[in-house]
Amino acid sequence: MAAADSFRIAPLSEVMAAEIVGLDVSRPLDGETFAAVNKAFLDHQVLCFRGQNLSPDGQIAFSRLFGQVIVHDNSRYALADHQEVLVLSNDVDENGEHIGVVDAGDIWHSDLQFKPRPAKCTILYALRNPSRGGATDFTNQYLAYERLPEAMRMRISGLRGVNSISKLKNSRAPISGERKGAREFYIRQERENPDVEHPLAQVHPETGRTSLYCSPRFTYRLAGLTDEEGDALLDELVRHSGKREFRYRHEWRDGDLLMWDNRCVNHRATGGYAYPDIRLIHRTTVLDRR
Ligand code: OGA
Ligand code: MN
Repeated sequence: MAAADSFRIAPLSEVMAAEIVGLDVSRPLDGETFAAVNKAFLDHQVLCFRGQNLSPDGQIAFSRLFGQVIVHDNSRYALADHQEVLVLSNDVDENGEHIGVVDAGDIWHSDLQFKPRPAKCTILYALRNPSRGGATDFTNQYLAYERLPEAMRMRISGLRGVNSISKLKNSRAPISGERKGAREFYIRQERENPDVEHPLAQVHPETGRTSLYCSPRFTYRLAGLTDEEGDALLDELVRHSGKREFRYRHEWRDGDLLMWDNRCVNHRATGGYAYPDIRLIHRTTVLDRR
């Protein structure tokens, strides 16, 4: 069967995201089909494959089609026999211990933006969703860039954001009051992840389109500007990047496999559910090539 006939693309909103209808990603994709999926990914930034039935091996194999998959080797929330798969969940085991990352990303961000080599795409497979809440919000940062006033695009051309995993020095990313030992945690994380600079106007290596690349979670100042000037400018960019007109909200269904392009999309978890209403997601992350 020709790739063009093997699935249908159904846009999920005006601003981005599309559903790939009729493709079982647990089966190997031939080269032509993969090329068509990859084109859809670049065209729509967020792809959803509904009703999938995927083992951890199947999710890893699918993820590898897009590049190098991260191994979460010292995370207590990686699957023991598949360290590439990180568990996101509010569920607890028989000892009352969390089985996954509970609060992944409730402030707008792009994954691994604090690394020299950030994430290309993140792939989430939803095994179980709460009866309400748990949606994930996305913003199209190509659009955010394109809709900046011309003068602002000129102003940020050549400017770089400074990104850090640490919330300790970032007033835009408050530490949750419930988090015990947060100070020590971030001091350790900061030591292992020195600040990195990335261009604010980032050219996508595959599409050539420019997007706005900053987020309130990880970008905490602008290189080469005074704090006063940089803070005001970054506040404005961060506010602009999160505008409703750039947003798509994904309401999860069990069996959804969702992937997004971190090079041109910001996202955040929206919460709104509580134990014993359970959310269980398997995450894989593919690294950018840079
Ligand atoms: C992530 C993330 C959001 C969510 O996995 O990187 O930000 O809704 N997840 O789980
Ligand atoms: Mn994230």
